[in-house]
Amino acid sequence: MSDSIKYVIDESRIPRHWYNLAADLPRPVPPPLHPGTLQPLGPDDLAPLFPMALIQQEVSTEREIEIPTPVRDVYRQWRPTPLYRARRLEKLLDTPARIYYKYEGVSPAGSHKPNTAVPQAFYNREAGVRKLVTETGAGQWGSSLAFAGALFGIDVDVFMVRVSFHQKPYRRALMQTYGARCIASPSEETAAGRAILKQRPDHPGSLGIAISEAVEVAAGREDTKYALGSVLNHVLLHQTVIGQEAIIQLDMAGDYPDVIVGCTGGGSNFAGIAFPFIGQQLRGGKKIQVVAVEPSACPSLTKGTYAYDFGDTAHLTPLTKMHTLGSTFTPPGFHAGGLRYHGMAPMVSHLKELGLIEARSYGQLACFEAGVAFARAEGILPAPEANHAVKGAIDEALRCQRDGVCRTILFNLCGHGHFDMQAYTDYFTGKLTDQQYEESELAMALAGLPSVPA
Ligand SMILES: Cc1ncc(COP(=O)(O)O)c(C=O)c1O
Repeated sequence: MSDSIKYVIDESRIPRHWYNLAADLPRPVPPPLHPGTLQPLGPDDLAPLFPMALIQQEVSTEREIEIPTPVRDVYRQWRPTPLYRARRLEKLLDTPARIYYKYEGVSPAGSHKPNTAVPQAFYNREAGVRKLVTETGAGQWGSSLAFAGALFGIDVDVFMVRVSFHQKPYRRALMQTYGARCIASPSEETAAGRAILKQRPDHPGSLGIAISEAVEVAAGREDTKYALGSVLNHVLLHQTVIGQEAIIQLDMAGDYPDVIVGCTGGGSNFAGIAFPFIGQQLRGGKKIQVVAVEPSACPSLTKGTYAYDFGDTAHLTPLTKMHTLGSTFTPPGFHAGGLRYHGMAPMVSHLKELGLIEARSYGQLACFEAGVAFARAEGILPAPEANHAVKGAIDEALRCQRDGVCRTILFNLCGHGHFDMQAYTDYFTGKLTDQQYEESELAMALAGLPSVPA
């Protein structure tokens, strides 16, 4: 077995295809439905929002989808990303486990999000689109699309969840640097935003509301399309470069994971690291444990209902079958802004129903404690979202220590936290608390689930 710390592969080994898990699933994911007719959506229903190339990827069951050369050429700037063996963390935990992490924070925007922002901008440019509108939670996705828009000559407007807009001013500045316009959501720019502000002028915002605003703008303009940073099949697909590279890198290490851990907001970085391994398992490979980690203040996979629901608060999107807390659910303003989404990707939800993955939730204090221990051992400062994966991996390593078993743990360190220092400052000064959602708010949001005949 290798004694290296990092496993680096050459640009020429960036995957040539994205891997599509739909090809290997034992049962297909329930289809998205038109909210008016409750019939499965056709490609034309999505055409006002997305270019046809992305719609085709959304419904594809081909196992491999070729990555266009101009996209691979941009990927070459930071991909393949390094795989690290966390030797100092292992020592600190005194664990017999071998811990590896794939580090996506080396991308220009600092996370996994450019893996899909770049192809989304590329396909939109190919379709002659002039402007993209999107939402962002923590700002990682907004800055990634801003970066991709700058490369392909597309204007970008970003509706940023209001609480994050104030928590993370430097993310806003980064978006502006790349040439994008960033608007606090809910805003006065859309009917959806104005309706919410009328009811509650100090509304902290949510990803569901920001999505409504972005979809409303995109649906109303000929030259404008919408881009989503997570949840949809094509977004998860683009992230599979992460896991495909990890397979090669772990092979260099002479190892293979027993357990894979990822944090889940909408499910895309988790899918990126896990789907290529789950695919190998479904094609007869080794059985692995796959753990999705989410915040206990927004626990869609662990506390949500598996049902058809809207992807946004104003009900402008199709209905998808997913684990959901209800589309009007507003989570408290904890710092992992990218994990404050009421639903989960249909494909990730489906895997949970099939028993192919498990889910657990943690409070933000435990996650920051894990992230700080990780930073002191490994030097890299994780994004607050990534701290959830760090915590999940550390718990698995400690379990190995207690049980006296040696297992190989792989987790996705999906982003750095250099723009999240206010969160760390709050943690060190004792201002960070484990925020809880209101049970009554959850009950009300779930009561509003649309009724869809089985
Ligand atoms: C660093 C980081 N990790 C994770 C997430 C959650 O998204 P997903 O579950 O799609 O990876 C986000 C979303 O903004 C993010 O910025």
